[in-house]
Amino acid sequence: MRKITIITGASSGMGAEFARQIARDEKTESSEIWLFARNKEKLESVKDEIKGDFPNVKIVPMNLAGKEGVALFKTFLATEKISGPYEIDMLVNNAGFGTYGEFASTPLEKELEMIDLNCTALTGLCGAVLPFLREGSSIINVASLAAFLPLGNFAVYAATKAYALSFSVALSAELKDKKIRVSALCPGSVSTDFANVASNGARKEVLHGKDPVAVVAHCLKKARRGKKIILWSAKWKFTAFMSRFVGRYLGARFTFKYNKRPSEWR
Ligand SMILES: NC(=O)c1ccc[n+]([C@@H]2O[C@H](COP(=O)([O-])OP(=O)(O)OC[C@H]3O[C@@H](n4cnc5c(N)ncnc54)[C@H](OP(=O)(O)O)[C@@H]3O)[C@@H](O)[C@H]2O)c1
Repeated sequence: MRKITIITGASSGMGAEFARQIARDEKTESSEIWLFARNKEKLESVKDEIKGDFPNVKIVPMNLAGKEGVALFKTFLATEKISGPYEIDMLVNNAGFGTYGEFASTPLEKELEMIDLNCTALTGLCGAVLPFLREGSSIINVASLAAFLPLGNFAVYAATKAYALSFSVALSAELKDKKIRVSALCPGSVSTDFANVASNGARKEVLHGKDPVAVVAHCLKKARRGKKIILWSAKWKFTAFMSRFVGRYLGARFTFKYNKRPSEWR
């Protein structure tokens, strides 16, 4: 039986790093890795990079956002059955983006697109893979440290990640008896293309970003052990813990006032 690992947002940043590390992982039971994102050239280059470690890689250039993206993804899964039955060993639901700046100054279309990707696609992909999961399969949903508190100047993004975290924990509870693991990865700042996308080019680098290599390695290790909420550094764990004691409005108001995020949206 073919066993598949699916990684979304695999054309850059943490998604590409998940691909590199899973390709090298001697413990993986997958016989194929499928990489999803929109940019075909970047997916090709990730595939080229990892094919020495893992020859059976398929790239799938696809816009996953919204109900349309989920429908495309389901059609792809169905079409793949023609080449033979398969199980999904792991889904890494990593594709996502944010927007820096206050809600009133960011394009509404962009915010809705974010919900389409960070929430609708993430949920839809979990639903679509369910029939292909077996005992021992796992899902990693990439949420964020931003999931723990409403954030000014990051309002919709933090809300989408709070959704991803809440959904992942509940899904983990529902799938426990089937011995399917679900983890939410909740990173703080990681050095990827995230800031460039979120600021529309105004900030090229994620401020104080951590190395994606370490974050992904930690995530894979903890996910294998069934950890439900994965935080990497001590600072991130402390921040997540302390967020319980900060009023939700206070957190949002404070970040709105004092954590300005540069952006070029208008
Ligand atoms: N970096 C951080 O500080 C940080 C912190 C916490 C959480 N996160 C989360 O980590 C995840 C990965 O982000 P990253 O930091 O690695 O940023 P990134 O380098 O910008 O990667 C984002 C990935 O998502 C893909 N993507 C975007 N829109 C898509 C769409 N409509 N359909 C399919 N794929 C799409 C992008 O590929 P294409 O452009 O080729 O489609 C890219 O591969 C995201 O969910 C993000 O919210 C990041």
